[in-house]
Amino acid sequence: MLKGKRIILGVSGGIAAYKAIELLRLLTKAGAEVHVIMTRAAQEFVTPLTFQTLSGNPVHTELFNLIAEREIGHISLADRADLFIIAPATANVIGKIAGGIADDMLTTTVMATKAPVLIAPAMNVNMFTNPIYRENEEKLRRLDYRFVPPVSGSLACGWEGEGKLAPPETIFEEAVAALSPKDLAGRTIMVTAGPTREEIDPVRYISNHSSGKMGYALARSAARRGARVILVSGPTSLSPPSGVELLHVTSACEMRDVVMARAVECHAIIKSAAVADYRPVDRNADKIKKNSERASVELIRNPDILGGLGRMDKRPYLVGFAAETAMVSEYAAKKLSEKNLDMIVANDDSQPDAGFNVDTNRALLIFRDGRSEACSLMSKDDLAGRILDHIAAELASR
Ligand code: PMT
Repeated sequence: MLKGKRIILGVSGGIAAYKAIELLRLLTKAGAEVHVIMTRAAQEFVTPLTFQTLSGNPVHTELFNLIAEREIGHISLADRADLFIIAPATANVIGKIAGGIADDMLTTTVMATKAPVLIAPAMNVNMFTNPIYRENEEKLRRLDYRFVPPVSGSLACGWEGEGKLAPPETIFEEAVAALSPKDLAGRTIMVTAGPTREEIDPVRYISNHSSGKMGYALARSAARRGARVILVSGPTSLSPPSGVELLHVTSACEMRDVVMARAVECHAIIKSAAVADYRPVDRNADKIKKNSERASVELIRNPDILGGLGRMDKRPYLVGFAAETAMVSEYAAKKLSEKNLDMIVANDDSQPDAGFNVDTNRALLIFRDGRSEACSLMSKDDLAGRILDHIAAELASR
């Protein structure tokens, strides 16, 4: 996801410095090349060796280092960066940057960079609400520095309140968003995700193994690329991606109602949800008693939501999914034409590493004009990126 991206991670001196280790791990795991700069105070909390070992690169601590300065270390670092993150950023460091003071490796490199700068503050609540700090933050925001606000909680200093470093996952998410192209800005994209549940009685239901991972990856990726995202989700255990409008539904009929009500707002709709094809004709008001050896539930077809979207007069760009176990491309192509879609993503559910409830997928993208594109085994995040590349290109050409 961050392959080929060069990120500077500036760590300043606060108790939250240890959380920068987790952030570094997330960044390197996503493929980024990370160069760490530590202030003198930061080294009181965590050793440079920890960051050096995990980043695989020397940690910069001194402005005047004879080896690095042969190529003027802070300037070449600053020039080559795609993104500069400061986490945790103390009131002192933020104050220095706002005041134009560059008296150590971190503040000098920030001053010299043209890369976007993402600042994650962490400090005592009274420092955070101090008007001097507020003025510094506002000044930097006006100058296009981005902030990942701290969260509320009990602070290391004993106080309760705002000032706790944002979770590393949140800072990571903001970093990915800062580095993503904004080719879906101004577009509204609806994604459906997860299973639907069709109740038999108050404690039992019919459903399937969809975890929502594919749909949530699509929603996350579209939001990072600047889209306004409406995520219509069946029951899942996933945390919602940041910056999306999340609408919870349970049954296929509820999903149909929400999707059809919001469809007119959308430039594109991606239906990755695994909608139950049938629901019980009647939902028992009470728990059904096990009085006999055999029992049966009469089922009735659920509405075909995607089919309904395909029949709209002025329909948005429509992407369906097909979960197949045999004759994958033939069945998927049939669904594409029957439901009047622009693209269908066929995943082969006969494979354990693709389809339901795994982090990876293997898919064939089939387009309305007969073209197709095979996507070999990849993460659901990467597949989401490939699908959105096509949607962004198509919407741009309209
Ligand atoms: O959630 P995960 O664990 O990450 O798994 C992802 C997935 C396997 C669920 C996903 O990749 C996928 O294949 N989703 C579609 C599954 C499915 O229901 O396929 P289908 O062939 O039954 O339906 C075809 C299309 O019609 C789908 O876009 C579906 O959303 C839509 N449909 C189906 C039935 C119905 N009543 N209404 C619909 O809109």
